[in-house]
Amino acid sequence: MNPSLNKPIKNIACIGAGYVGGPTMAVIAQKCPKIKVTVVDINPQRIADWNDEDLDKLPIYEPGLKEVVTEARGRNLFFSTDVDAAIKEAQMIFISVNTPTKTYGKGKGMAADLKYVELCARQIAEVATDDKIVVEKSTLPVRTAQAIRSILDNVGNGVKYQILSNPEFLAEGTAIHDLHNADRVLIGGDHHTPEGQAAMDALADIYAQWLPEKRILQTNVWSSELSKLTANAFLAQRVSSINAISALCEKTGADVEEVARAIGSDSRIGPKFLKASVGFGGSCFQKDILNLVYICRSQGLSEVADYWEQVIIMNDYQKRRFAENIISTLYNTVSGKKIAFLGWAFKKDTNDTRETAAMYVASTLMEDKAEIHVYDPKVTEEQIISDLEYLSSLNYHNLRDKQIRTQIHIHTAPYTALENAHAIAVLTEWDEFKSYDWRRIYNAMLKPAFVFDGRNILNAKELKSIGFKIYQIGK
Ligand code: UDX
Ligand code: ADP
Repeated sequence: MNPSLNKPIKNIACIGAGYVGGPTMAVIAQKCPKIKVTVVDINPQRIADWNDEDLDKLPIYEPGLKEVVTEARGRNLFFSTDVDAAIKEAQMIFISVNTPTKTYGKGKGMAADLKYVELCARQIAEVATDDKIVVEKSTLPVRTAQAIRSILDNVGNGVKYQILSNPEFLAEGTAIHDLHNADRVLIGGDHHTPEGQAAMDALADIYAQWLPEKRILQTNVWSSELSKLTANAFLAQRVSSINAISALCEKTGADVEEVARAIGSDSRIGPKFLKASVGFGGSCFQKDILNLVYICRSQGLSEVADYWEQVIIMNDYQKRRFAENIISTLYNTVSGKKIAFLGWAFKKDTNDTRETAAMYVASTLMEDKAEIHVYDPKVTEEQIISDLEYLSSLNYHNLRDKQIRTQIHIHTAPYTALENAHAIAVLTEWDEFKSYDWRRIYNAMLKPAFVFDGRNILNAKELKSIGFKIYQIGK
């Protein structure tokens, strides 16, 4: 066996200080005080934000993250732009860079763009002078480990690598809780060789510092990679399934929450992930399913591909249905009308807006010439504009950049966003929306005062008694 792979891990590097790399490494550093953890990123602003004395400036918002960073930063947790130095020093390197859906060429709109992962592998190959364990942490298509291995093994400078797959299952908004209490940790590696097994055990030892060993599962690399895609596909499928039923409820007079409660009481189905909504968002669900669909098609499994693609088609339908209901309820046009959005993030307790339903609903309404006024407690104006410009780049809508800037208005307080509105649309389930003074809001709105609750969080009975006309999903 190669002795260097059997040494205890003293230094970890993580390439990519984003939503996955940042919180995951912060928790590893917190729980393993003897290991030095260095998180590196090519984006200097991101690193400066991670290093900011003012913890409110951390680049991502996650409940509990500040406390973990306070405990570990400067002790054994470091953030830096010096990627080469971190690679050189580490025995174990996590790759945690972004893997967006390709926006060009072969697999456009479907396959994951692996260029950032590939660049990382090349940089490791160039810089490393001793043996390394390389851990893929980003969500990647099945067989990416093979690509990383082929880059690393073909450099020929005698350095030996073990490639592990260790997918992240944390959900945003509960990342720290999910990391502290993971249902399972998955480690995929080559358990047929002593070096492979040693690498898997080295990573398992890290997680065993705070998780029971029975929750740390070891598999082959391909099973680990595919399990990540499959877990997200199953979760997204549940949301699309209940959303499909919500459309039927609206036609028949059934109540989707009652249906969800009834079916969720069956212990085989279970109660989680059955909340009907305006549509799922986030960086993972759509991307991972598109990826799964792409892999199936490239393996000639067209029925399997079609099956999973339907989850996305249903989600697109749900977002469109919500926007079209607003237009038809407001007498078939929203031209020049003020539509107030409560929430823009793809779910509560995060400032992440990737694939948020809000941007799709906004662009449908803006194409019908609506004036959109947004209030979200955590999302910035620049982000909202850049989301709409991103949809322009995909030709999702025909709005010009100038038009976007004149039709969207971002507010830093809720009541100004809602004043004189023709309608309110709830896009994110932030808790604070429930406790607003809805009578005051009603008095300040144009009548009839319409509310479209895309998250079913408002008290419909109470709002109706105030005078609102309220529409909820699946009711
Ligand atoms: C997801 C997976 O849960 C996580 O394991 C994986 O690592 C990354 O992808 P995340 O995208 O952070 O996590 O959010 P999640 O809580 O899963 O929600 C995804 C979307 O589905 C959100 O837009 C959410 O609002 C929506 N959703 C979720 C529903 O509409 N209804 C539900 O019942 C649950
Ligand atoms: P995720 O949700 O997967 O964590 P993010 O986009 O939040 O994705 O974070 C990925 C981070 O990886 C970004 O901050 C980006 O700057 C960084 N990154 C991408 N490529 C490289 C690279 N070659 N070296 C270092 N950092 C990189």
